[in-house]
Amino acid sequence: MNTPLIDPFARAINYLRVSVTDRCDFRCVYCMSENMSFLPKAELLTLEELDRMCTTFISMGVEKLRITGGEPLVRKGIMTFFEGMTRHLESGALQELTLTTNGSQLRKFAADLAACGVKRINVSLDTLDADKFARITRWGRLAQVLDGIEAAKNAGLRVKINVVALKGFNEDELFSITDWCATQGHDLTFIEVMPMGDLGNEDRIDQYWPLSDLRARLRERFTVTELDERTGGPARYVRLEETGQKLGFITPLTHNFCESCNRVRLTCTGELYMCLGQEDMADLRAPLRASPDNKILETAIRDAIARKPKGHDFDYSRQKADGQMTRHMSHTGG
Ligand code: GTP
Ligand code: 5AD
Ligand code: SF4
Repeated sequence: MNTPLIDPFARAINYLRVSVTDRCDFRCVYCMSENMSFLPKAELLTLEELDRMCTTFISMGVEKLRITGGEPLVRKGIMTFFEGMTRHLESGALQELTLTTNGSQLRKFAADLAACGVKRINVSLDTLDADKFARITRWGRLAQVLDGIEAAKNAGLRVKINVVALKGFNEDELFSITDWCATQGHDLTFIEVMPMGDLGNEDRIDQYWPLSDLRARLRERFTVTELDERTGGPARYVRLEETGQKLGFITPLTHNFCESCNRVRLTCTGELYMCLGQEDMADLRAPLRASPDNKILETAIRDAIARKPKGHDFDYSRQKADGQMTRHMSHTGG
């Protein structure tokens, strides 16, 4: 194997998130504007190129691969890609192959994902109310997603529900969502909404519900024990003593976790973003296409990692004055 990827702040990069499409069958109001324009399909890395990119990263020490989008399961032929990655799980080079999905296509794909070695998945679900779900996704059907989640569970996949905390939207569902996850046996993570991408008429600050407030509300009903454990992701965990449930919190705004960052992000066009919250990126598509030999690509990857910044720049107060990051979350896959 190559020497591992270490960034300028001595952080080992062993986690690659890959956005395989910028498209999605939903348009969550905090994620996309109603009239998104998507990339022409010809711009995308082919499935073979995605395989080669990931294989190269794995040979350089990446042990965890998370497939994202947009919605990764709307990318045509995506199961071929997953099937290809199975060989890296089997060889032991890859420790985890997983994805973050909106759940809409899980009924169709859950069993195949499990057969490819996927063990757990993250599903974005911000409300359990069908009307609110249709509103937040602009047209999604809650029943379809719940059915998909059930299919995933039946296929033996562990499910983590991702809830973006949204002021005035799901504050009233804090306990019902928590209870539902406990009953269903799903893990649950709350996420602070990050100021990324132009949303047309929506104002970000109006959506922001700090998790410090959410946690205070949890303590009104539960005995909350802070846990020390980390799972290689940005979440911090607590246990609710009354139910034994473990909850995660992803708090880029109220509690920065960049010092332990272990990840980089590849877009569907082959750009490598060294940080979700920074604009700097390196084009890896040209080096990939420059030669069938991976040497040029490997050099480009090392050069990019050497530029990884210390942390993100999300800040609602400053953002008001400076304007927000125009790149959409779906471009880099969250
Ligand atoms: P696991 O810990 O493996 O379950 O994954 P995860 O929680 O990192 O992945 P997921 O795709 O479910 O992401 C959940 C939320 O965390 C999304 O809103 C991501 O944008 C956010 N997130 C993940 N990694 C980072 C990061 O490095 N920085 C920031 N600011 N947010 C991140
Ligand atoms: N802030 C925080 N989380 C977001 N997601 C999408 N957009 C945002 C945002 N602006 C979440 C999705 C999904 C994960 C990949 O990122 O709900 O769970
Ligand atoms: Fe699609 Fe996920 Fe963005 Fe919603 S948050 S529009 S499901 S990519």
